[in-house]
Amino acid sequence: MNPPIRKAVFPVAGLGTRFLPATKAMPKEMLTVVDRPLIQYVVDEAREAGIEHFVFVTGRNKTVIEDHFDVQVELELTLNERGKTIALEELRRDMPLPGQTSYTRQQAPLGLGHAVLCARELIGNEPFALLLPDVLIQGEKGCLAQMIEAYNASGGNVIAVEETEPEKTSSYGVVGVGEGDDRVFSITEMVEKPEPGTAPSNLIITGRYILQPEIFPLLLRQERGTGGEIQLTDAMIQLMKTQPFTGVRFEGRTFDCGSKSGFLAANVAYALARPDIAPAFRDELRRIIMTAS
Ligand code: G1P
Repeated sequence: MNPPIRKAVFPVAGLGTRFLPATKAMPKEMLTVVDRPLIQYVVDEAREAGIEHFVFVTGRNKTVIEDHFDVQVELELTLNERGKTIALEELRRDMPLPGQTSYTRQQAPLGLGHAVLCARELIGNEPFALLLPDVLIQGEKGCLAQMIEAYNASGGNVIAVEETEPEKTSSYGVVGVGEGDDRVFSITEMVEKPEPGTAPSNLIITGRYILQPEIFPLLLRQERGTGGEIQLTDAMIQLMKTQPFTGVRFEGRTFDCGSKSGFLAANVAYALARPDIAPAFRDELRRIIMTAS
């Protein structure tokens, strides 16, 4: 039996410069898609997959994230007094249980690999999930839950991948495809942000990972790579020499909420998926589109 995936890491230390001035005093992970902050969607996805402990790698100006996952006593009292039981229940449902969250700080912006390394003491010697909160994945079944199914069968390391246009591969990590089927296959190689025309496939790394703890000593030794940052992909390439990596082409639609157009598209898609909002919103949207062009 493969050891269960109990813990998940959320790197939330980024400065969010692409969303200034919105992110001047507020973490980008707290930007809202409809009426929930980005980070809540990703924590929900982890929870649905059975994660029991949520490790946030934060930075300065990120304490609002801790507050979000804590009880707001005054608010709860007021909702209770006003009989707003549904709102109160929903707030409580979103809350992690006592002791289920940990926070550590990435003291300098040295890249994704460095952020993951900062979580090493909180993860310890067990496999873990890693979810990038910039990436929202909308689907029937959460992406991480689909990956855990694959992990239960294969063990080792698992990476969510999706197809993109060849001209876009240079913005992502890209994998080489080995044995398997259309959905689950063994990864033969990985490249971070390949030069145009050199990518091993059109399958990009999507921002969800299941990793073995042996990644940590490799990250500790990892030198700076693309963009002068400690790249997670570079350490995974090292780990591939001794451990298997499985790629999962998940079912679901991805929104890159690190870009403005992706973030806005996520708002539209998630609003249209909400029965309480969709009818009125669809009319508004139609009117905007008809008069805009
Ligand atoms: C990171 C990873 C990259 C992955 C991407 C997904 O890149 O390094 O392999 O494809 O996330 O969003 P970043 O977006 O930090 O440049």
